[in-house]
Amino acid sequence: MPPSPAPTSSQTAAAASGLRIGPFELDVPVVLAPMAGITNAPFRRLCREFGGGLFVSEMVNARGLVEGGERSWRLATFDADESPRSIQLYGTDPTVVGEAVRRLVDDGHVDHVDLNFGCPAPKVTRHGGGAAVPARPRLFAAIVRAAVEAASAVPVTVKMRMGLDDDRLTYLEAGRLAADAGVAAVALHARTAEQRYSGRARWWAVGELVDAVRGVSDAPVLGNGDIWAAADATRLMATTGCAGVVVGRACLGRPWFFAELDAAFTGAAPPPPPDLGTVCDVARHHARLLTDAIGEDRAVPQMRKHLGWYLTGFPVGHEVRRDVVTVATLDELDALLGSLDPTLRNDPAVDGAPRGTQAGPHPVVVPDGWLDAESVTPPEAGADASVSGG
Ligand SMILES: Cc1cc2nc3c(=O)[nH]c(=O)nc-3n(C[C@H](O)[C@H](O)[C@H](O)COP(=O)(O)O)c2cc1C
Repeated sequence: MPPSPAPTSSQTAAAASGLRIGPFELDVPVVLAPMAGITNAPFRRLCREFGGGLFVSEMVNARGLVEGGERSWRLATFDADESPRSIQLYGTDPTVVGEAVRRLVDDGHVDHVDLNFGCPAPKVTRHGGGAAVPARPRLFAAIVRAAVEAASAVPVTVKMRMGLDDDRLTYLEAGRLAADAGVAAVALHARTAEQRYSGRARWWAVGELVDAVRGVSDAPVLGNGDIWAAADATRLMATTGCAGVVVGRACLGRPWFFAELDAAFTGAAPPPPPDLGTVCDVARHHARLLTDAIGEDRAVPQMRKHLGWYLTGFPVGHEVRRDVVTVATLDELDALLGSLDPTLRNDPAVDGAPRGTQAGPHPVVVPDGWLDAESVTPPEAGADASVSGG
């Protein structure tokens, strides 16, 4: 498939608030956060049916791609009409990351590569992987450079956290290094790895990163963390000067959040919150998209967690919530949703409330000597295990 950097209709007419990432001009400055186990091609399609933005894949392991791993290449699947095709890669070795990017780009498989440097999972940071990589600045820079060089005209972006913990903050130096290496954007989840998903995202750090990156290149900075309502997105941009936002958990069971974001950025009236009947229609559509992609046997068990999110806040009762976690076929899913009162409405306070994991904090351990700033040695085996998070 040839690369398709030509913008789609939703990306052409860049509004004043538009966001440029390499050749792509997005009319709404919004990126769907990569979320392992969530942002597969069906979920990305569902979200983009509601609004504009950039929709990033689940995280894919660079080593898995280089070694021809079936699972990794399956995760790197895009809809035929998806444009731009945006992939998130995870890797800890510059050679491996460069080779993965080269393969993706040479056969025109992707139009954008995002690099994940935010994973807080102990099983990778303990070996020097994930969020521990930016704490070894020369290695971090070498990985980013390898990706940018291999990507040629395809834009490369990075996504990271503030650092390991409050005593080991890395985001300003990493942001400058990434900008110097030629990335097309820098995204910050404004928490440390120690925080995981707990507490509040510290948006002030996004503002500091804007200043730090501005001194090096014109790469836009994207703010991420705790955007639960469209007004949060505009406020984060207004208060920090960042050029766009990355939204994750707020979309779980709420893909129409993209319509709310669209309205906020284009000045249109916000769409009314959906009643339960509309929510059930979206959930059924989601289930069908997932079934078309991976078959009913695998899609319906995956839909259970999504159904839990779709029903968040609706007074549907314990029995329905119990049945959701055992639903096994599309017919059962249809029947369950059909049994609900379609006129129910969500409490607006619940609709825009935090959802998804809030786990943490958890201390971060890195290998002895890891903070030796001069070292470019990639971490040992285990650091690039396939894990999720960022
Ligand atoms: C289930 C789940 C999976 C995630 N997987 C990834 C991932 O693979 N790569 C990544 O960079 N971030 C990952 N994240 C982090 C999100 O991209 C995002 O940075 C984080 O959720 C904060 O944004 P939010 O407050 O809008 O959710 C994940 C988050 C969740 C909840």
